[in-house]
Amino acid sequence: MSRKIRIAVLASGGGTNLQALIDAERSGNIPDGEIAIVICNRKSAYAAERAKEAGIRAEIVTRKAYGGQEGFEARMTELFEEENIELIVLAGFLNILSEDFVRRYDHRIINIHPSLIPAFCGEGFYGLVPHIAALERGVRVTGATVHFVNEIADGGEIIAQKAVEVRPGDTPEELQKRVMEQAEWVILPEAVSRICTERIQQKEREQDNGCI
Ligand code: GRF
Repeated sequence: MSRKIRIAVLASGGGTNLQALIDAERSGNIPDGEIAIVICNRKSAYAAERAKEAGIRAEIVTRKAYGGQEGFEARMTELFEEENIELIVLAGFLNILSEDFVRRYDHRIINIHPSLIPAFCGEGFYGLVPHIAALERGVRVTGATVHFVNEIADGGEIIAQKAVEVRPGDTPEELQKRVMEQAEWVILPEAVSRICTERIQQKEREQDNGCI
């Protein structure tokens, strides 16, 4: 069976994690997955440009345009169904998804967070905040975590983590950059690839069992 797992990437900002995924797919490092659609919840999100440049469908879906969170999530669900999406990747997606939405896609939504969970995570820990908190606490290592998304902010099952050294005199911006380069852009594509391969293998097993 050669079918690939179809992936939706949700992003709000610059989209460097999206770019890492696009590059990984292009260089054959996500053999069992393909990015089918990129959804941005901000008109200004550069992530949408990156998608278009890579020839990937890009959609802007704002809460405002769809009359609030419910309509916004309904539109995303519509797009997932249209594109036969099986894996949803939050790559710098600044929107808290409703419990209903998250439960509907149990173990099918993953997120990248710029710290070693359970440190420096939860509500409000986005952007530079986890790095400022890590520097204030004086930790010697921080890093990034890929995890499944459940109804608790940054509380879902951990899939992958990578540690990154904190250097004396680091600014939050310098630390953020190192965490992205050394951890986020590495573990996110790896985790996506692994999940896709596992899902394909699971489908093959299910098919084999059905044939007996
Ligand atoms: C990353 O630090 C990611 O960990 C966090 O948001 C940031 C997104 O950056 N969730 P980008 O849009 O991928 O460049």
